Amino acid sequence: SKEGFDHFMLKEIFEQSESTQNVLNRFIKGDSFDLGESTFSAQEFKNFDSVYLSSCGTAFHAAQVAKYLIEDLIQIPVRDEIASELAYSNPFITEKTLLIVVSQSGETADTLNAMRLAKSKGATIFAVTNVVGSTIAREADRVLYCQAGPEISVASTKAYTSQLMNLYFFILDWAKKLGKLDNSLETQLLSDLKQIPNHIESLLDTVTGYRELAENFIHCESVYFIGRAVDYISAKEGSLKLKEISYIHSEALPAGELKHGTIALIEPGTQVIALATQRPLIEKIASNIVELSSRGAEILSVGFEHKGLKESSDRFIAIPETSDYVAPILSIIPLQTLAYYVAVLKGNDVDKPRNLAKSVTVE
Ligand code: M6R
Repeated sequence: SKEGFDHFMLKEIFEQSESTQNVLNRFIKGDSFDLGESTFSAQEFKNFDSVYLSSCGTAFHAAQVAKYLIEDLIQIPVRDEIASELAYSNPFITEKTLLIVVSQSGETADTLNAMRLAKSKGATIFAVTNVVGSTIAREADRVLYCQAGPEISVASTKAYTSQLMNLYFFILDWAKKLGKLDNSLETQLLSDLKQIPNHIESLLDTVTGYRELAENFIHCESVYFIGRAVDYISAKEGSLKLKEISYIHSEALPAGELKHGTIALIEPGTQVIALATQRPLIEKIASNIVELSSRGAEILSVGFEHKGLKESSDRFIAIPETSDYVAPILSIIPLQTLAYYVAVLKGNDVDKPRNLAKSVTVE
């Protein structure tokens, strides 16, 4: 049941402090953490010499966020490929490859195909999924269950943040087993992760204001999302959320790429949403915002408190103070909520958007 919420999507957005807390309860053991059977041994981790990520839609975005953390902590190159494209991308998959797949339903045909292809080449498959006993869970070599609870709304929200939390713990475990996680970084990241549920709650406290914010978007033909580094992935996820339920065309771009073409589409009144949670890059994104503003775009920025960012933007949503690493788990919350209110104001069927199914079991 919707438990008093107008839609499952809003209920599921609100469940995110609880679903992220569940992940903490499962893995945190005293000052450290333990993933039990849902991970690999140090020896198994040592044997992988290449890493692939493959999935679809929102689950792919979760995998792409993970790529940044894997490359930073484990220092191994990671290739990410949309599942329906993996077969056509010259995959260099061998018996020493680890393929990570993420799937809420565990039944997505494209993801399953990618996984079977990698398996036929001898790769080890690690699956992060929400549905116990699903096909992907059964066929993978190792499974990490998200335990986000059932997700009814077609637009994925709590499954995404849960996938991220689970992936972060997996990567911490991996780094630790390879001796690549020093104590201070472990302490810092665990403390950041422990604060996620409270931070989500504080973000959701201001949610009523988003309805008003949503008014700015309902007559748009197009909305642009920009970000740099991992913020670009959050931009892609925000854009997917908005387009699938509001039916407004939207596009996400790495902020620096705008001037190579897309900026030609910016005119007075164009709505742009800028993500800015990576501290070394906030000045750069602020200057992109100035370029866009001078062409008449209206900017909503979502990021850490920063004078230059705030002053260059028309509207600003502050992300609670935390490390750059875990920021993607928080910055998506306002984007999900905004997409929700835009769809509500447009009178759309929020939980069951046209042409879409919750689980896509055809190629
Ligand atoms: O069940 P899966 O996680 O494998 O589904 C993947 C995508 O179909 C899914 O994330 C889709 O993009 C959602 N509608 C996004 O909100």
